[in-house]
Amino acid sequence: MAYKTENTLLYVSDLSVAYGDKTVIKDINFVEKDVIREGSVTGQVIAFVGRSGRGKSTLFRAMTGLIKPTTGKILIADTTTDSENDAKEVHEGDIGFVDQKYTLFRNKTVYQALLFALRKKEMSKEEKHTMIMNYLADWGLEKAKDQYPNELSGGQRQRTAIIEQILCSGHYMVLDEPFSGLDVGNIEDVKNAFNLITSTHEFNTIIYSTHDIELAVELADSIYVIGYPTIDGKRADYGTIVKHVDMKELNLAWKDFGLDHIEIVKQIKAAMLSS
Ligand SMILES: Nc1ncnc2c1ncn2[C@@H]1O[C@H](COP(=O)(O)OP(=O)(O)O)[C@@H](O)[C@H]1O
Ligand SMILES: [Mg+2]
Repeated sequence: MAYKTENTLLYVSDLSVAYGDKTVIKDINFVEKDVIREGSVTGQVIAFVGRSGRGKSTLFRAMTGLIKPTTGKILIADTTTDSENDAKEVHEGDIGFVDQKYTLFRNKTVYQALLFALRKKEMSKEEKHTMIMNYLADWGLEKAKDQYPNELSGGQRQRTAIIEQILCSGHYMVLDEPFSGLDVGNIEDVKNAFNLITSTHEFNTIIYSTHDIELAVELADSIYVIGYPTIDGKRADYGTIVKHVDMKELNLAWKDFGLDHIEIVKQIKAAMLSS
């Protein structure tokens, strides 16, 4: 499928993060650009996979400005200016982050939580109400509108957390293991949600981590494997990118899952096992 790449969306260079004096991730370098396909809005879906403890969550906390990198740089597109190639260093709040536990306010209903997410937006009460009601309808949450987190299912809690982040952040969204703990029906819902997000704005980018390799190969157009690299025959004990699969380049993005995708799943699993 024909596509071209334009502005840089995310630029990560020489990134490392240590907790105390323990380096957890190191030598992380990658660039993701905006993808343009004629006739369709193409937001990016970028997946990070890798065994537990390899540093995926740490990388995400750094990418969303929640922790400061020990070395290196993380630049994101500056969507507040008109100029095409403006980049800026990431700060907390620039990028929506849905963490592994998708924590919600205990004392706020779904509606109240979403209204709170819009608190900094210069919109009238009516505009906010309409916007929230539209999201609730699109995401199948109308009936849950006045319920509190402890009255919601896992899938409903998670969708609320995702909408919260859409409402209060710009065009990026980082989700740490959004599919873990969800049943098949909820996984379908989140898949649809991904589609909904990436097809509404050209710059919308979803970055997520997962243990579901098949689903990553189905959904993502770029997949990074985070693992311990082998250096001089010895396995190091910090995480880095050990494999990158560009599904677009392979002509496998935006296509139904087929035999070629199964082959990629095998390659990714092999890379994970050896790192
Ligand atoms: N706040 C922290 N303080 C100290 N060590 C941490 C902290 N968070 C994570 N770690 C360690 O960093 C490593 C990577 O963890 P994490 O980023 O959670 O990996 P993943 O998400 O891939 O499972 C692990 O060894 C973990 O124990
Ligand atoms: Mg994690």
